[in-house]
Amino acid sequence: MCGIVGVLGSHEVSPILVEALKRLEYRGYDSAGIATVNAGKLDRRRAVGKLVNLSDELVHNPLPGKSGIGHTRWATHGAPSVTNAHPHQAGRVAVVHNGIIENFKDLRATLAGHGITFATQTDTETVALLCEFHMRDGTGPVEAARKTVAQLDGAFALAFLFDGEEDLMVAARKGSPLAIGHGDDEMYVGSDAIALASLTDQVTYLEEGDFAVLTRQSLEIRDSKGHLANRELRQITLENTRVDKDGHKHFMAKEIAEQPVAVDKALRAFLDDQDVITLPEGLDFSKIERLSLVACGTAYYACMVAKYWFETIARLPVEVDVASEFRYREPPVSPGTLALFVSQSGETADTLAALRYMQGKADVIAGLVNVPESSIARESDVVLPIHAGPEISVASTKAFTCQLTVLLLLALKAAQTRGLPLPAGMPDDLRALPGLIHQSLASEVQIASAARDLATARDIIFLGRGQLYPLALEGALKLKELSYIHAEGYASGELKHGPIALIDDTVPVIVMAPKDALFEKTISNMQEVMARGGRVVLVTDPDGAREASEGTAEVITLPRAPVTLAPILYAIPAQQIAYFTAIAKGTDVDQPRNLAKSVTVE
Ligand code: AGP
Repeated sequence: MCGIVGVLGSHEVSPILVEALKRLEYRGYDSAGIATVNAGKLDRRRAVGKLVNLSDELVHNPLPGKSGIGHTRWATHGAPSVTNAHPHQAGRVAVVHNGIIENFKDLRATLAGHGITFATQTDTETVALLCEFHMRDGTGPVEAARKTVAQLDGAFALAFLFDGEEDLMVAARKGSPLAIGHGDDEMYVGSDAIALASLTDQVTYLEEGDFAVLTRQSLEIRDSKGHLANRELRQITLENTRVDKDGHKHFMAKEIAEQPVAVDKALRAFLDDQDVITLPEGLDFSKIERLSLVACGTAYYACMVAKYWFETIARLPVEVDVASEFRYREPPVSPGTLALFVSQSGETADTLAALRYMQGKADVIAGLVNVPESSIARESDVVLPIHAGPEISVASTKAFTCQLTVLLLLALKAAQTRGLPLPAGMPDDLRALPGLIHQSLASEVQIASAARDLATARDIIFLGRGQLYPLALEGALKLKELSYIHAEGYASGELKHGPIALIDDTVPVIVMAPKDALFEKTISNMQEVMARGGRVVLVTDPDGAREASEGTAEVITLPRAPVTLAPILYAIPAQQIAYFTAIAKGTDVDQPRNLAKSVTVE
């Protein structure tokens, strides 16, 4: 998953490209580069590592020009290096690419047959070489690009720039998102609207198979059949594209701290002052007999929690799948199925592919997303925005608690529609959620201190039961993706079936256990751990702390809360444990190694 940007501007374009790439760095940061056309001459600058290295390069080696393209990379083919950094250039053609060209080896063989040699290991260089090859017989740049794109299999968002063409850019989209921005006698291309937010709020999203030819005064889009296509010009709400830390050390700290406000916004989007839960048109639970929830990573754990809520509160059977498995499992789909795809970015390739599998099979396809203009949103029958605001840090935090909030509202609405009673206090208890989250944030000082010890561990285990089991998985994911410490989450009842062999006094065990109906059982598992020397960090509420603190290494006490809300509250210490352990380890909190925020490739 990479970020691409292009500008046909009226000013020097390299600082504009770098600023836009800063907004895309969350999509990958192994290397970065820009290319411009200046006085008809195509040239480029590239650097390995974070974007700041490209900025340094441009200080020492400026790149003039008012037309340019830029790229920030998450390596798929070829190690992170200057050679493999985009833009890739072949003679008169420069190109930036997000996605994977699946037939690039065949194309390379064809080009090699014409005596063409390769400087890199990347699939993207093949695109530049193929376009250059098509121009050899006098074919113009646009036609050469069109021929090239027609030969590509796989997923791509591409932007082409050509030597000698100061007022021309070609863009194409298949499987990876691409937006066109409209300025005053300027035109832009970007992987998403956030990249273009400092340039324009007028955006056109290309659709699958679209091929666009841009000049400063014109935009021509043709669809996959080559027919002229009119794509909607949208006004993007710029307030949703602010990308600064507001004084926090990291985006993750800011996004953890924003959760009371973000969750309140998610609540109010569906729950009014008269306790009425209003859903978008097209989602009527009176016609739904079962749910299929599909997602990846943290969003998948939100779906696992939702399964407990839909099945216990609304008595609706739920299947939950990891998207990368679901899309190949090809399950039969029964009538009355609501297929719900949960994705912060709305661009996760596996989740989008799973959605496309369900098109024409499920009765309703709904996208629960944080980006209402995203591909998943645009391909859903019903869009359920979570209103978390831009989430820049690679680790998903406020999106997770907002996903859970909206999923709980859906389960409550489903129960009401099916004439079932709601859990005592619901939905009014939901209004206490922002305050409870705010109170839970106060554990950060204690957690920061405990994290210094956790940072020395080689393995860490999280335990939870029932609706807290997915929180054990989420806590383990957060910890490993941020601190690089091996961590695993288990259903606490499973420990004795093997994993308990891992326990000794070097293994911290983090137990997520509100004083609920399963508390006693979880505590007995905790005691099995302590009997074997395991160092237990108990996350619980005041009643749980009073009953089970003895023998633990640390007790993190969250506020007493309605049982139904526990999965949302217990996300906070899970996030803080990961955050402060990563800080103690000195890892890159907002851009951990090997990761990117939006996984738009398989
Ligand atoms: C979560 O902290 C990770 N960054 C990752 O697992 C993420 O949740 C997953 O890639 C799904 O992303 P999405 O919600 O944008 O689809």
